[in-house]
Amino acid sequence: MNLAHRYGPWAVIAGASEGTGAAFARRLAAERINLLLIARRTGPLEALAAELRAQHGVDCFSASIDLGAEDAAARVAAAVGARDVGLFINNAGADTNGSLFIDNDLANWEQLVRLDVVNVMRNCHFFGRRMRDRGRGGIILVGSGACYGGLNGIAAYTAVKAFDLCLGEGLWAELRHHGVDVLNLILGRTDTPAHRRLLERNGQPIPAGMASPDAVADLGLARLPHGPVCNWGLDDDVVGYAPNSAAQRRARIVAIEAASASYAAKK
Ligand SMILES: NC(=O)c1ccc[n+]([C@@H]2O[C@H](COP(=O)([O-])OP(=O)(O)OC[C@H]3O[C@@H](n4cnc5c(N)ncnc54)[C@H](OP(=O)(O)O)[C@@H]3O)[C@@H](O)[C@H]2O)c1
Repeated sequence: MNLAHRYGPWAVIAGASEGTGAAFARRLAAERINLLLIARRTGPLEALAAELRAQHGVDCFSASIDLGAEDAAARVAAAVGARDVGLFINNAGADTNGSLFIDNDLANWEQLVRLDVVNVMRNCHFFGRRMRDRGRGGIILVGSGACYGGLNGIAAYTAVKAFDLCLGEGLWAELRHHGVDVLNLILGRTDTPAHRRLLERNGQPIPAGMASPDAVADLGLARLPHGPVCNWGLDDDVVGYAPNSAAQRRARIVAIEAASASYAAKK
């Protein structure tokens, strides 16, 4: 697949300063797609933009935007301007709270909702409408296996990721008739700097067998035309973790709770 032809000339990555977002950026720059890189920290963003301009000769710039802020989507639209964007990747969105729901301030959960729900929805509306009008494009929502049902220790996170899953599936159905591909790229544990920081903060060991950001980016771009869902590590026809029956949902929560008992110790 010629990515630049199908998803160029510009891509926007929300959450691009490290990990899977940076891996997407490197992969797309190598395909000669111009890039707008968004995250909070200016230093890593500008270093990556300079690296990609030098190595691949692409047009690449960055914008420091807190995607959990009320004005984030307006600032994304302003940064994009009149550029012809053929690919939007929402990567930012991990839960860095590391706490039980009622032990944390509500304000922190509302910030997570702006990051993973409100601004994802606004950005999909902005980019989706433009892509529909140009008859070509792609949207990747980087999700989590947490989307498949509520779990202890990450209750709000499971809820916002479930929203993204349903939004992405619905957009896939609505936009595929207009030449726009939508993919929920559902990750398991992935070896990102943010995830390592969280494990370290919680005093948890670094698990073996985490996915690499490069492999995740490769899979996401390869599967983008085959949405609406791609589960890391599972072929499309493998039964996953989303039972519908009430009894099965209860059993799933309790089983995963037992398997991840360390989360329960969180304060
Ligand atoms: N790592 C895993 O094990 C794992 C597992 C399942 C799903 N996922 C999903 O994979 C995606 C990436 O996760 P991650 O582990 O790399 O952590 P992350 O905290 O989502 O960070 C990814 C990128 O997003 C940026 N970012 C985070 N919060 C932001 C904000 N409020 N505003 C703007 N940019 C922000 C970070 O840069 P700055 O800090 O510079 O802003 C970074 O470049 C997330 O959607 C997560 O839910 C990850």
